[in-house]
Amino acid sequence: MPKHIAILGSTGSIGTQTLDVARNNPDELTIEVLTANSNYELLIKQAIEFKPNAVVIANEQHYQTVKDALFNHDIKVFTGTDAIAQVVQMDNIDTVVTAMVGYSGLKPTIKAIEAGKHIALANKETLVVAGDLITKLLEEKKVFMTPVDSEHSAIFQCIVGEPFKIEKIILTASGGPFRTWHKNDMANITPANALKHPNWNMGAKISIDSATMMNKGLEVIEAKWLFGLAEEQIEVIVHPQSIIHSMVQFADGSIKAQMGLPDMKLPIQYALSFPDRWQSDFPRMDFAKFANLTFEQPDIEKFPCLTLAYQAMRKGGNMPAILNAANEIAVEAFLNEKIAFMQIPVLIEKAMNGITFVNTPTYTDYVSTDTETRSFVSSLI
Ligand SMILES: NC(=O)c1ccc[n+]([C@@H]2O[C@H](COP(=O)([O-])OP(=O)(O)OC[C@H]3O[C@@H](n4cnc5c(N)ncnc54)[C@H](OP(=O)(O)O)[C@@H]3O)[C@@H](O)[C@H]2O)c1
Repeated sequence: MPKHIAILGSTGSIGTQTLDVARNNPDELTIEVLTANSNYELLIKQAIEFKPNAVVIANEQHYQTVKDALFNHDIKVFTGTDAIAQVVQMDNIDTVVTAMVGYSGLKPTIKAIEAGKHIALANKETLVVAGDLITKLLEEKKVFMTPVDSEHSAIFQCIVGEPFKIEKIILTASGGPFRTWHKNDMANITPANALKHPNWNMGAKISIDSATMMNKGLEVIEAKWLFGLAEEQIEVIVHPQSIIHSMVQFADGSIKAQMGLPDMKLPIQYALSFPDRWQSDFPRMDFAKFANLTFEQPDIEKFPCLTLAYQAMRKGGNMPAILNAANEIAVEAFLNEKIAFMQIPVLIEKAMNGITFVNTPTYTDYVSTDTETRSFVSSLI
């Protein structure tokens, strides 16, 4: 029986690669729903190729264009962000791939879990903002979540079939484009420099997060919630070749690593095929070409975002939601050349010190924390 999937953010980097996986596995995956924010041209193309049951274009300006283009096709067209949160509950979907970027993933993911859908989670920000709420809901609704992030997929692949006796996990980080830069040169970083990731081709926001190493910080928090770990069980190591995608050290000291060429299609496919593995023609690793796999400590002086993320995780409550919202606004401002690269952590720290702390937040608290933090950081900019 094929899996019936909804892809939230089908026009993005993860979304288009998920469609590649679907294209290669037509007997395993049927596309039921595709959603985009404003890239209506690609959404229309995807809809005509994959013939989903429904599409959502969040930006209402493009609704009529999409509707007109799909007039002769048996595809429902919806618009608005609320429509994304509603469409994930459709009966004919069993799996939701959350490939939209940022805080916008939170509400649809909650709605999908409430409707009992399996979640293939790319949108790490959902777990960063409200990990406690999401994990409780997963348990209550007996819903399974598989990670798409390559590091978390690696950890997941290492623990399958193991008694759950993790001593620690070792998250690998490429170090991003500025790993070898001198701290003094980092004042002049431009968006073009920061968008050039050495190993991965990703969306703009995660590329900047990788350049500041906030991405690794967000992944530390994501790992805490996905695998139920304490802070001291989560270690980060820089591994510039991105061949080892992460490792798990077990109670007896044995370490398992999951390896392969950097290609997001593999973790995407595993998140959808689990517990099975489907055949693939992804390029295979040739060890002779990788004579050196190297490891180094992250430079927290150059990359203070990593420390801020650990601090937010330690503090708990709504602090990771503050960190996330401040980061989203700061990254956008950097991409629009309104602030310098090294101001990103400065703004985040100001928000973490300036926004009201809530120890045990409800969903409403998370929403108001996000709104309050966005306007606080915007006013500083
Ligand atoms: N890219 C990777 O290799 C990678 C790896 C691991 C994890 N992730 C995670 O996966 C998620 C997606 O990353 P990405 O790199 O694929 O991002 P991306 O290329 O920027 O794509 C984002 C997708 O979300 C849609 N979107 C953006 N804002 C939206 C909003 N407010 N409401 C509804 N839809 C919205 C976009 O639509 P439009 O195209 O219309 O703007 C696009 O389809 C992120 O959480 C990221 O951290 C990505």
